[in-house]
Amino acid sequence: MASPLLFRLLLPLLFLSVSSGSSSTLRLQSDGAYITAVVSEKGLAFAKDLLVERAVETLTSLRIRDIEKSVGIPIVGVVRMVASNITLEAIHVSSSTVQPGESGIVIVASGTTANLSMDWFYSYTTWFVPFEISDKGGAFIQVEGMEVGLTMTMENKNGTLELSVTQCGCYMKNFVITLNGGASWFYQGFLNAFADQIRSAVEDAIVKKINEGVLKLDSLLKTVPNKIDVDKVSALNVTFVNDPTFTNFSVEFDINGLFISLDKTSARGYFQKTSQLSHSCDGTQKMLWMSLDESVFNSASDVYFQAGVMHWVVEKIPDQSFLNTARWKYLIPQLYKKYPNDDMLLNMSLTSPPGIWITPQKIGATISLDMTIDVLDGSKTIPVACISVVVSVSGVVEISGNNLAGQVELDDFTLTLKWSDVGNFHMYLIQGVMRVFLNTVFVPYVNTHLRKGFPLPIVHGFTLQHADILTANSMMIVCSDVAFNKTTGVITSL
Ligand SMILES: *[C@@H]1O[C@H](CO)[C@@H](O)[C@H](O)[C@H]1NC(C)=O
Ligand SMILES: *[C@@H]1O[C@H](CO)[C@@H](O)[C@H](O)[C@H]1NC(C)=O
Ligand SMILES: *[C@@H]1O[C@H](CO)[C@@H](O)[C@H](O)[C@H]1NC(C)=O
Ligand SMILES: *[C@@H]1O[C@H](CO)[C@@H](O)[C@H](O)[C@H]1NC(C)=O
Ligand SMILES: *[C@@H]1O[C@H](CO)[C@@H](O)[C@H](O)[C@H]1NC(C)=O
Ligand SMILES: *[C@@H]1O[C@H](CO)[C@@H](O)[C@H](O)[C@H]1NC(C)=O
Ligand SMILES: *[C@@H]1O[C@H](CO)[C@@H](O)[C@H](O)[C@H]1NC(C)=O
Repeated sequence: MASPLLFRLLLPLLFLSVSSGSSSTLRLQSDGAYITAVVSEKGLAFAKDLLVERAVETLTSLRIRDIEKSVGIPIVGVVRMVASNITLEAIHVSSSTVQPGESGIVIVASGTTANLSMDWFYSYTTWFVPFEISDKGGAFIQVEGMEVGLTMTMENKNGTLELSVTQCGCYMKNFVITLNGGASWFYQGFLNAFADQIRSAVEDAIVKKINEGVLKLDSLLKTVPNKIDVDKVSALNVTFVNDPTFTNFSVEFDINGLFISLDKTSARGYFQKTSQLSHSCDGTQKMLWMSLDESVFNSASDVYFQAGVMHWVVEKIPDQSFLNTARWKYLIPQLYKKYPNDDMLLNMSLTSPPGIWITPQKIGATISLDMTIDVLDGSKTIPVACISVVVSVSGVVEISGNNLAGQVELDDFTLTLKWSDVGNFHMYLIQGVMRVFLNTVFVPYVNTHLRKGFPLPIVHGFTLQHADILTANSMMIVCSDVAFNKTTGVITSL
């Protein structure tokens, strides 16, 4: 389920690159962008290497159109010559770079060598022989000092990124053709007539292939939905806002990043972006930094609360005796008197979306809920009292696969009796029991949900590796490397 989201964020980076320099910071200035992802110099180099590798695979076995010509040869006369089955056999890129520029992103592969094979054929007629004379054979071409350059731009079109090539060129310094067989007169005649033409046909074919690759990538980008379903209730809005921003060292993508309800009728809360500080993963050389505003988490709270899924009926707890009125004989005498030795259950229901906050030290939440105590009297479930509970928890966030997951501990809580049919018992009497309950039942329950977490936007086939999580005022930053699985990765379809 994480794949399309990751896809939207990481796919574009495949074609973007920047070199030199060391660090940069997140801008976080754009409104409507609650998640910002920055692909660092290291990430760009990684993406570029993947692309170059993919380009080499695509270009290998590239077939170039046949070339045919009639050539005047001294003494022999006019000879029809054909260069056919021109095939790029192997290509080796010795170095490649990426650089941002005014006009876009430039990727250059230089010092490239390549080998091609081809077939040749000639035929001619002459006055002193009554039939056509012809011959054929193979040839081998060695290319050295080949350079391929590509300049691309990337724009936000209606929430989707659009890639386009502004320039693409291929230049071959040494282009040496070795013919196998053939008459000696043919050899020179062939080279004179064909060498430049074959060279430019090969150069053109390579440029065309690369352009096609970018077009395919662009259409792949366009097919990616702008929301990622998290479960049956919510989705993450991964609409791109703003154009990507290029610095000398990195590329930044802004996405909306808020949770939205899959139920169209449910109203959506308003979220103010709160984080302002510039922040980066300085000191940790990671490929990808992703900053998530507090609002991302609060929008999730809001969606799940509005979907009405934040209820929980507690029937089983580690110390089951607490869920029997006998246990409360002395603390709430009326309860026992009215319903002696009856089992109880707790009906917990959140009264507002949990408020989530992030500080440089930790991430936490304040959860307000009503806890209704129900007595099971025969076949009847009788609500006997209701306590308002406000619980503060805080904890750590971790990366689990490509998900952001967490774990919290109880910080504090307050209890207020809302109503009671079993007398007005004091909250301090049940304080100790509640602490045990919150610690042994409530917090573990919350943690089972947090452990699953929610997907971060990473492209299919990529996985986060060596992730670190930092928190700052009102935001969280994930600094991570990524690994690519060739078997499942999306670029294999290019
Ligand atoms: C074209 O060249 C390839 C590679 O050298 C060879 O396998 C293939 O048989 C050739 N095809 C023709 C029609 O000559
Ligand atoms: C091209 O062929 C030559 C000679 O067979 C070989 O040494 C070289 O490694 C080949 N280059 C590539 C890129 O395959
Ligand atoms: C922009 O995207 C929305 C939804 O994705 C679509 O309904 C609308 O037609 C698009 N507008 C343009 C101009 O492409
Ligand atoms: C980016 O690179 C250009 C050219 O190398 C340089 O003029 C400019 O000062 C650099 N900008 C930053 C922010 O380093
Ligand atoms: C998703 O985000 C975009 C950009 O901020 C916004 O225009 C759009 O309304 C959002 N979609 C939903 C369903 O909220
Ligand atoms: C729990 O309380 C809700 C309302 O707060 C009610 O709709 C639901 O039926 C109750 N469930 C049980 C098992 O008492
Ligand atoms: C890549 O994905 C395939 C299919 O999911 C899996 O079998 C393989 O182990 C993965 N490889 C790596 C290196 O993770």
